Amino acid sequence: MTKQDTTHFGFEEVATDEKAHRVADVFHSVAGKYDLMNDLMSGGVHRLWKRFTIELSAVRPGHKVLDIAGGTGDLAYKFSKLVGDEGQVILSDINSSMLNVGRDRLIDRGVNQNVQYVQLDAQHIPFDDNSFDCVTIAFGLRNVTDKDLALRSILRVLKPGGRLLVLEFSKPKNKLLEKVYDEYSFRLLPFMGKLITDDADSYRYLAESIRMHPDQKTLQGMMDEAGFTNTEYHNMTGGIVALHKGIKP
Ligand SMILES: C[S@@+](CC[C@H](N)C(=O)[O-])C[C@H]1O[C@@H](n2cnc3c(N)ncnc32)[C@H](O)[C@@H]1O
Repeated sequence: MTKQDTTHFGFEEVATDEKAHRVADVFHSVAGKYDLMNDLMSGGVHRLWKRFTIELSAVRPGHKVLDIAGGTGDLAYKFSKLVGDEGQVILSDINSSMLNVGRDRLIDRGVNQNVQYVQLDAQHIPFDDNSFDCVTIAFGLRNVTDKDLALRSILRVLKPGGRLLVLEFSKPKNKLLEKVYDEYSFRLLPFMGKLITDDADSYRYLAESIRMHPDQKTLQGMMDEAGFTNTEYHNMTGGIVALHKGIKP
């Protein structure tokens, strides 16, 4: 097998074709307890990271927004309030279990007018060129096999002047924080995963996939390379998470 035929699934090297299946297994397994685990693992702080993402999106009434890898719909719910009746939000995900949980959750919260639900792969987005004012992908990009392809696909569907926001785990800025964070993610996360979802492996993958994800500068370079302009990033919680922004020229 050549290097191009393989990729990372956490710390494991797997055949490129296999990664998507392995990622799918993870999210089919955790979908039902995903929101509970998110709150427990981050102590609720993921809500603040998402709030900042919404602030930086500059989404207004009438806008069209695509949330990729949107899972259980945290961002899509907030966008549906912002775009109003004239706007449109697409909650999308490659995984039917995650998308079903997201759809049920938004419908239970009374959202039914301006949100559509689409199962799609970030690498091959099935929308016309220049369709969206804003595209978001939160904690999704690190699971995508070909990230460059996904970034180019996003660029294509954005309108000129439209913005991409990538919220993702990143590299802590401080050595001590990095050490504490390592202990937490490699020891406590799989333990919590086992206790709550009876699935330690999926949470071990979470910790490993975070370490394998490009750091802040590298991801910014990838966005530049894909064709975005005015790229920038904001570290949050000491760089444990970073929000990258890029504009379609
Ligand atoms: C950690 S969850 C994030 C969910 C949500 N965005 C959030 O922030 O809570 C990652 C999501 O990425 C989705 N995903 C993985 N690979 C994908 C791909 N190639 N295209 C679209 N979604 C993908 C998974 O199915 C999963 O729902």
